[in-house]
Amino acid sequence: MVDNNATLNLGEQSLDLPVLEGSCGPDVVDIRKLYAQTGNFTYDPGFTSTASCESALTFIDGEEGVLLHRGYPIGQLAESSSFMETSYLLLNGELPDQDTLNDFTHTITRHTMLHDQLRQFYQGFRRDAHPMAIMCGVVGALSAFYHDSTDISDPEHRKISSHRLIAKMPTIAAWAYKYSIGQPFLQPDNSLSYTGNFLRMTFGVPAEEYEVLPAVERAMDRIFILHADHEQNASTSTVRLAGSSGANPFACVAAGIACLWGPAHGGANEAALNMLQEIGTPDRIPEYIERAKDKNDPFRLMGFGHRVYKNYDPRATVMQKTVREVFEALNVTDPVFETALRLEELALSDDYFAEKKLFPNVDFYSGIILSAIGFPTTMFTALFALARTVGWVAQWNEMISDPGQKIGRPRQLYTGPTQRDYISLDKR
Ligand code: ACO
Repeated sequence: MVDNNATLNLGEQSLDLPVLEGSCGPDVVDIRKLYAQTGNFTYDPGFTSTASCESALTFIDGEEGVLLHRGYPIGQLAESSSFMETSYLLLNGELPDQDTLNDFTHTITRHTMLHDQLRQFYQGFRRDAHPMAIMCGVVGALSAFYHDSTDISDPEHRKISSHRLIAKMPTIAAWAYKYSIGQPFLQPDNSLSYTGNFLRMTFGVPAEEYEVLPAVERAMDRIFILHADHEQNASTSTVRLAGSSGANPFACVAAGIACLWGPAHGGANEAALNMLQEIGTPDRIPEYIERAKDKNDPFRLMGFGHRVYKNYDPRATVMQKTVREVFEALNVTDPVFETALRLEELALSDDYFAEKKLFPNVDFYSGIILSAIGFPTTMFTALFALARTVGWVAQWNEMISDPGQKIGRPRQLYTGPTQRDYISLDKR
């Protein structure tokens, strides 16, 4: 880090603030001493200009549409890597050699089973519960199951918890689906790949052999890679904030799942497909574009826009390509895809979207693929949570291993009443 200084003038006071330089991306003005030296806070609701931590995992250049994990472009990882390899990379910083990858995959495979008592947690939910509600509950419940690895200051304990979370998420998500349709839970089959195993637990039944189609397995694995991490997004920041108090990692990830569920974040893939189905045919697109532009209408084009990407979301490019591959492998088409392509074309040629730099994000096309594979829309965000778990635990580990780590404690601009005396009930 090369340090410079910025000068802040506050009335009569002048303060030199260090400017820190990362390996890429904007420099940051270090304001940590601001309150102690001036008694002022900074104000940035929504964190539009605030770096909340130092991180070496993922870099995004939103203006250029760049996304790098440990330096590797997402397009290259999606094309040539596997979800297991990308997970290892995120957790450990370097790509593994073959033996290391085999060991890592073997370790994850050995943790895929759920404690048998966890079945009872599923029974506590209504059959029509949203899978994200079940995921939140079951992952939170895991915090009560593993008393052998609760010392978060021990790197080995953190590693075991991280591996358990990554390994068990497909079983948890698949069982949430099975529960909703009233089919028996399938135990993991450790002869299959991480992704093949997930597909079998989701779509297989005990009475029949389930054949994992390589093209679908590859597409699913790629979707997992595309969702693996995305620096300090809302759910990751939630996991970090929860973890900053020293909370149990399973509880922290349950908090991340809760945050991801919202329609402005991970819930957008479900909302995007619902929207495309509602639009139905390309001739109705202009009507929806007009609604999205109308400030008096709360409707937004779901799967469009991003806090950071002000150019194409590089994940959306891979997704669009993957739609075609999956359709070819399954020998299906979906008129919704034609509607999506046309909507993208019309929106991108519209001044409103151009001026506001609104482009399709990762969620715009993912729902079409997942729907073709056979997932109901309610499962989309659960799949996102499954894949993002590696990012959450990698970020959590990075935070806890930082010796300077402090509990996250934002301040506020108070606008409520000033101090006043309590008035007894009979005098009000
Ligand atoms: N449709 C129509 N207008 C939009 C859209 C959209 N999808 N997205 C943003 N805008 C407009 C806003 O109305 C606002 O207009 P204004 O400046 O005239 O008030 C302007 O663009 C900026 O929007 P903000 O909401 O202030 O931008 P922010 O960075 O806070 O929000 C967000 C980003 C939440 C992703 C937003 O674009 C959105 O709601 N998109 C739809 C939901 C979605 O697809 N979310 C998935 C994000 S990717 C992910 O989480 C994996």
